Amino acid sequence: MRRQRRRKIIPLLQENWIRKEDLIYPLFVDENLEKCEPIKSMPGQFSYSVHEIAGKAEELALIGLKAVILFGIPKNKDNTGSSAYNEDGVIQKSIRLIKEKLPEMVIITDVCACEYTENGHCGITAGCHDSIDLDNDLSLPLMEKIALSHAKAGADIVAPSSMLDGVVMSIRKSLDLAGFQEVLILSYSSKFASALYGPFRDAAKSGFSFGDRTTYQMNPANAREALMESELDFKEGADILMVKPASFYLDILSSVKKIGIPVAAYQVSGEYSMIKAASMNGWINERAIVMESLISIKRAGADLILTYFAEEVLRWLDE
Ligand code: PBG
Ligand code: ZN
Repeated sequence: MRRQRRRKIIPLLQENWIRKEDLIYPLFVDENLEKCEPIKSMPGQFSYSVHEIAGKAEELALIGLKAVILFGIPKNKDNTGSSAYNEDGVIQKSIRLIKEKLPEMVIITDVCACEYTENGHCGITAGCHDSIDLDNDLSLPLMEKIALSHAKAGADIVAPSSMLDGVVMSIRKSLDLAGFQEVLILSYSSKFASALYGPFRDAAKSGFSFGDRTTYQMNPANAREALMESELDFKEGADILMVKPASFYLDILSSVKKIGIPVAAYQVSGEYSMIKAASMNGWINERAIVMESLISIKRAGADLILTYFAEEVLRWLDE
């Protein structure tokens, strides 16, 4: 076997590669900001104001980025998440601004309510006292409205992340009825209730004020359930499935890959911050660990990777 590892033979036999086209960069747009602000729990990442967002996207396009996913922080939150589908909401404005400057950039939007609801949950809550929970069927029309408003503003791909039952089918139907047959659905099909989302909730100001997300996000102990979720979303019309988080869930990724449609993996905020913390302390080589983590995600079967390291990786790929 060592003949295959002769130095000049190694690249010839390399089975997986990170390409610029694989990377999707998450961008935070905050309607309350005038100027970009660093995200404390994610060193090296920033929240941008609405008027800066197209400039940032252009900077990324120049180094070869093909796709972004947008997360919005609105001025106003209420208990129905109404600013999530406002025609002049933070995401809707941002899409139009990016589209104007960069018609070729693929714009993906997160379709969820947690940044827009007062209590920080991903949809409409119902019940009383200690039994307050997300109401599945009351939340579906909200998700349809959000997805439709993103499509109208020019989104190429909508990504429902609330883990509601039937959300892919509802969104597909309402997009088709409104004439947006060409808009793709990237479903957060197996999204685990993970402690790795902590830094994101800080960045997106989307922490919940009671309960947790375990009644809609999945139990980290479950693999069969993840496959069921993914197959259902495929049957409901998802174009791309997603596994989230990535690194702790590579087994899930490789089984979801077998469904046979494209799969994205989300290397989430906590994965980013853990790597950053160790490398900022000089405990680990950042570039080496980032490339190793990304190639492992590809090896497990990801076609696309959402990662906060995208900007650094794009620069490294040019060296
Ligand atoms: C919202 C959403 C979350 C993430 C993406 N979309 C957080 C959550 O469920 O609380 C997490 C992304 C990350 O941690 O980088 N539904
Ligand atoms: Zn959410």
